[in-house]
Amino acid sequence: MSDRPVGFPASGDRLGDLMSAPPELPDIVQRAFDVCRQAGYVAFCRNETGRLLATLAATRGGTMAEFGTGCGVGTAWLRSGVRNGARILTAELDESLAGAAAEIFTDDGCVEVLAADWSVLREHGPFSLLFLDSGSPSEVGVDAIIDLVEPGGIVVLDDFAPCESWPPIAYGRVDTLREQWLTDERFTAVEVMVAADASTIIATRR
Ligand SMILES: C[S@@+](CC[C@H](N)C(=O)[O-])C[C@H]1O[C@@H](n2cnc3c(N)ncnc32)[C@H](O)[C@@H]1O
Repeated sequence: MSDRPVGFPASGDRLGDLMSAPPELPDIVQRAFDVCRQAGYVAFCRNETGRLLATLAATRGGTMAEFGTGCGVGTAWLRSGVRNGARILTAELDESLAGAAAEIFTDDGCVEVLAADWSVLREHGPFSLLFLDSGSPSEVGVDAIIDLVEPGGIVVLDDFAPCESWPPIAYGRVDTLREQWLTDERFTAVEVMVAADASTIIATRR
């Protein structure tokens, strides 16, 4: 019999296997996964990030936005946390993906899927939450984004590999996008590990 306390890991267990999360998904997220499966689309956000998006969305009013809808998984996670009266705008460049994602939210007045380059979202800001999930580092730097975020608004950037050094290193180079978001004085920001191998930046506009 093991002498470690119940609920504590044996050394060597992977941290990613140990995070507590209920196995059930919100219905709207399950619908988005069904659409992904039909479309053969796999570039969706992971569930750990999705749960974070839902939690942050639940703190927001006004309009939230997403750059890069894919097949709607991130949108669905945001939608699962949305409070009454808040809404989500999401833009996807690929028309067929945007069409597939739009079907998930056909009868949902809270969500609008735009088949367009995310730059169209500039006409609809500033936003209370912005999930930046597409675009090259030069397109989603602080200077390019700040006017799209209302004071107190939250920016979420996904898909970083956790890094213990400063400045952060990725692929053998300084990760200047991560460095910029974590140090710009116009935001208060933190990098949060959502799994052993994945981190997300959350930045709140001052
Ligand atoms: C990482 S995937 C998005 C995943 C989605 N946010 C989710 O959580 O399931 C990135 C998406 O951005 C789209 N994309 C790339 N450039 C874009 C642009 N300029 N405007 C809008 N969408 C774009 C791609 O077609 C791709 O579907």
